[in-house]
Amino acid sequence: MTRLRVQKSDITVVKADATVIFLFEGDKAPKTLDGKLGGRISAILKKKIFVPKKLSVRRVDTLGKLPADSILLVGLGSKDDFSGELLRRASAKAALAARESGAESLALSISGLASKKNPADELAQCAAEGILLSLYKFDEYKKKPEENGGDLRSVVFACGGDREDVGAGVDTAEKLCKGVALARNLGNQPANTATPTYIANAALKECRKVGVKCRILEKKDLERLGMGSFLAVAKGSAEPPKFIVMEYFNGAKREKPIVLVGKGLTFDTGGISIKPSANMEDMKFDMSGGGAVIGAMTAAASLKLRKNIVGLVPCTENMPGGRATKPGDVARSLTGLTVEIINTDAEGRLILADALGYAKRYKPRAVVDMATLTGACMVALGVHASGLMGNDQKLIDAVREAGEKTGERCWQLPLWEDYDDQIKSQVADVKNVGDRYGGAITAAAFLKKFTDYPWAHLDIAGTAYGAKPRTPYMTSGSAGIGVRLLIRFVRDF
Ligand code: BES
Ligand code: MN
Ligand code: ZN
Repeated sequence: MTRLRVQKSDITVVKADATVIFLFEGDKAPKTLDGKLGGRISAILKKKIFVPKKLSVRRVDTLGKLPADSILLVGLGSKDDFSGELLRRASAKAALAARESGAESLALSISGLASKKNPADELAQCAAEGILLSLYKFDEYKKKPEENGGDLRSVVFACGGDREDVGAGVDTAEKLCKGVALARNLGNQPANTATPTYIANAALKECRKVGVKCRILEKKDLERLGMGSFLAVAKGSAEPPKFIVMEYFNGAKREKPIVLVGKGLTFDTGGISIKPSANMEDMKFDMSGGGAVIGAMTAAASLKLRKNIVGLVPCTENMPGGRATKPGDVARSLTGLTVEIINTDAEGRLILADALGYAKRYKPRAVVDMATLTGACMVALGVHASGLMGNDQKLIDAVREAGEKTGERCWQLPLWEDYDDQIKSQVADVKNVGDRYGGAITAAAFLKKFTDYPWAHLDIAGTAYGAKPRTPYMTSGSAGIGVRLLIRFVRDF
């Protein structure tokens, strides 16, 4: 991983292959720098060779006049629109441009951008996140890893009196991005490798490293507990299901925990209600919610959050086969509610139902689940926001706020009781699908039946992965979405 350092010095004297200069529209060239370069930057701005529009980048050779080989001018657009998210994206752009140019080291400074609204520690964190997340690669199956220019090995944050704040922000970002990289790795790993057993072992290993208590409930434990809804999904698979339970208690003794639940479907064929083959390969990402929860739990411990947090990840494949659940089958869930399984492809809600039921034993302050749950959510919101629903508006608002802060945006959909009609069953307490309309909402209406605590649900079907990156700091494949959002939420809640 790229090494980040914080150094108290003027940006113009830092030795690096490339030095980033952020500029707003209408900004003049920074004096010292421009002077040292004989007025080149101001000339470039004046002739409009470079216009500092949002996320524009231009490389300028320093011809030996500065310790840095080149300057990367990075546009931030209008000052009024500036935000942490914009800096995250701009820093990612800078890192990618630097790497492409063959640079191995980069210098930047965020000091001039800080304000009351955007304090230095948050901005440093945003910049560091943008850099680290944009440079992520998954190439373990390539004989010859892709050439992206250089290997950006070190990044220096030049700063002044804000050294402590910048250092704190950078440190937070490093720990968070480790969690994101873990979530991305688990997601990108093909399903023949990333089986429930593999995910459970990865969780055990990563949790041990940072001091999160982690145990795995095996099939026989799930049977003993009565998790018939979860087991109904696992039945068709030759891979044994695993229920990952992670506990991190570092808050006040009496404080009830926040429980995070993630869908850990390592491959979703649809089961007997089998999916069409087009894009079915993407269903290896159907454990992205679970990956995010594992990444968030390990990040919470690295960050030493003073909180009580539990992570629950039901892990299984959804396969057709001689022992698979059939449409019309009825399962008895952990809470006692019976479920008529009309469509075996609506399996995420079945495994979450028992995880949400299991969460009750913690008497949680709040439960947030995260799942690649419905194609309908993608239809409703596209790929730029996760669907957000729940039974407690304060909690929903807190999650939404964390989404704004982290750039992992969420958009609330209604969850009125009226939707419950769609999941009424003739033979059981509830059925697992509604009719054609409002599929993201009827899925949430189903989950709601298994909760009796403040609860929020995030449908990340549209945001968890993509064939191409949606922001400069995303990479193709798993987005690792949810780790930063969940940590931010837990911290502020
Ligand atoms: N994992 C899918 C949802 C999904 C679809 C995620 C596309 C990402 C991209 C989920 O298990 C599923 O199959 N949902 C069904 C529900 C339907 C049967 C009610 C869907 O969305 O079609
Ligand atoms: Mn499915
Ligand atoms: Zn699924």
